Amino acid sequence: MHRIVLLGPPGAGKGTQAKRLAQELGIPHLSTGDMLRAAVAQDTPLGRDADGYMRQGLLVPDSLVLGILRERLGTPDAHRGFVLDGYPRNVAQARSLAELTPLDHVLYFEIPDSVLVERISERRSCPTCGTVYNLVTQPPRTPGRCDRDSTPLVQRSDDTEESVRTRLVVYREVTLPLLDLYRTQGLLRTVAASGTVEDVDARVRAALR
Ligand code: AP5
Repeated sequence: MHRIVLLGPPGAGKGTQAKRLAQELGIPHLSTGDMLRAAVAQDTPLGRDADGYMRQGLLVPDSLVLGILRERLGTPDAHRGFVLDGYPRNVAQARSLAELTPLDHVLYFEIPDSVLVERISERRSCPTCGTVYNLVTQPPRTPGRCDRDSTPLVQRSDDTEESVRTRLVVYREVTLPLLDLYRTQGLLRTVAASGTVEDVDARVRAALR
């Protein structure tokens, strides 16, 4: 079974690779960031609670995120496996996840900060279908428009310089310690996340063999 977690700093390319991998394996891509952004866009009570934390680059409280993840993991398509991207973010979330499901692989995306900043500052996404672009490395065919539905592309509200700085600090302080946890459990594989999308894709496949 493929119950896979992707760990790594903001902008490492987790979402990009998670979509490709999930499609190839025929299992769902579960992104807590996407779930929270959808809640914000739909102005649900969860979205209203989460929005301020996200804009500042802070973690949304564990209890709020666990609720949506538990619900999603409970749906039938996730029983065949999943690619989980954005969860867990701290030790408490890792414990909660362990109570919900066993894992088969944890892939750590390793990448220099200079590459992250460049990837994040050039990221744009489609507010209608969620497709993610990069103005330098994965540009849309028509500048500023989604290839799928022609919607004008937007920049994420947390891709500001200040929020990215905070997200990196939070990542180092509370998420990085998860590497030791999963290494101890024998689940961790490190993937070099620099290079083209295809390069990283090939390394992800190799790490899962
Ligand atoms: P989340 O959405 O999880 O964001 P993140 O972890 O900060 O990661 P990103 O989405 O920024 O980056 P990514 O690694 O997916 O990179 P991508 O593939 O887009 O979380 C956002 C917020 O939600 C959090 O700050 C928090 O507030 C909240 N949240 C979410 N989960 C939570 C949780 N569990 N607990 C509490 N709060 C939570 O790629 C980046 C760019 O690079 C794109 O433009 C892409 O096109 C490009 N790119 C990708 N790969 C390559 C490549 N190989 N070469 C060149 N360009 C590339």
